[in-house]
Amino acid sequence: MEMGHESGSSREFEGQILAIDPIMGDSLLLTVSAPPAIVQRLRPGQFFNIRCRFPSAYDPLLRRPFSVYRVDVERSALIFLVRPYGRGSAWLADRVVGDRVGLLGPLGNAFTFSPRTQRVLMVAGGVGVAPLVMLSDEAVAKGMDVVFIMGAADESGLLASSELAGSVEFVAATDDGSRGHRGLAPDMTADYVPWADQIFACGPEPMYRTLRAVVDPLRVNRKPPVQISVERGMACGLGACLGCVVETRHGMVASCVKGPVFDLDEVIL
Ligand SMILES: Cc1cc2nc3c(=O)[nH]c(=O)nc-3n(C[C@H](O)[C@H](O)[C@H](O)COP(=O)(O)OP(=O)(O)OC[C@H]3O[C@@H](n4cnc5c(N)ncnc54)[C@H](O)[C@@H]3O)c2cc1C
Ligand code: FES
Repeated sequence: MEMGHESGSSREFEGQILAIDPIMGDSLLLTVSAPPAIVQRLRPGQFFNIRCRFPSAYDPLLRRPFSVYRVDVERSALIFLVRPYGRGSAWLADRVVGDRVGLLGPLGNAFTFSPRTQRVLMVAGGVGVAPLVMLSDEAVAKGMDVVFIMGAADESGLLASSELAGSVEFVAATDDGSRGHRGLAPDMTADYVPWADQIFACGPEPMYRTLRAVVDPLRVNRKPPVQISVERGMACGLGACLGCVVETRHGMVASCVKGPVFDLDEVIL
């Protein structure tokens, strides 16, 4: 299945940090100014490669990929959820309001709704929640029913349900049982598979293997279809370095261009 591609070309620009807000655990929401044309046309699932160093420095040399959590059309800004993980994301999380960052994007394809979809199931693992928040907003705006399952190691890693529209049913799962169900997010999906018209997932790769094991016995003719966003290092983001390849039924593809969103049945994990 070919996911929706933005027809516009990628571009490089500098954005100014307009706001920084705590969101979950040690993660932050960074609101970064961007050209209106980019903000208005952005699709859920697309990402930006962000330069995570001062322009005069060389380390880390390669940009780091971040999905868009939400757009703020009024302020002409992109909102990113940043977890300080390694040195690049930690640099980004250390910025202050007024700082400027270099962005390349929007990059990649997007999650897509089928024309007759009414009931959607989101499955988020950790910071994988980012693109599913924007997708969930869009589903609610289209009048769809949304169940949003989120898993994290413990309570502090969960998104507050107030971050989602009031009509969204939020189901929490934690590894240690500190909130919601004890266990993994995919384990909570079984009850909703027969209900859902489409499933969308974003999280670490092992989560997709568990998700496949849970949903496959419950699906009929591969329905409901499942779209996932794969996580690879995105050195160039433009299909040139092949550092982000993913194995699919049709061969190896660059996930920065043909992805990061794939049909779960197409990708070999
Ligand atoms: C399409 C896409 C969207 C993303 N969106 C978000 C987002 O919205 N918010 C967010 O916080 N993160 C997101 N990420 C993940 C983020 O890009 C990585 O956490 C970041 O690149 C790590 O860089 P670093 O310099 O902080 O870590 P590094 O210093 O490069 O890495 C530290 C260690 O972690 C390992 N490592 C690096 N990246 C990863 C990884 N992704 N998974 C597992 N191990 C890794 C390295 O091999 C190294 O051992 C996204 C990734 C992709 C591909
Ligand atoms: S990141 Fe270079 S080809 Fe995808």
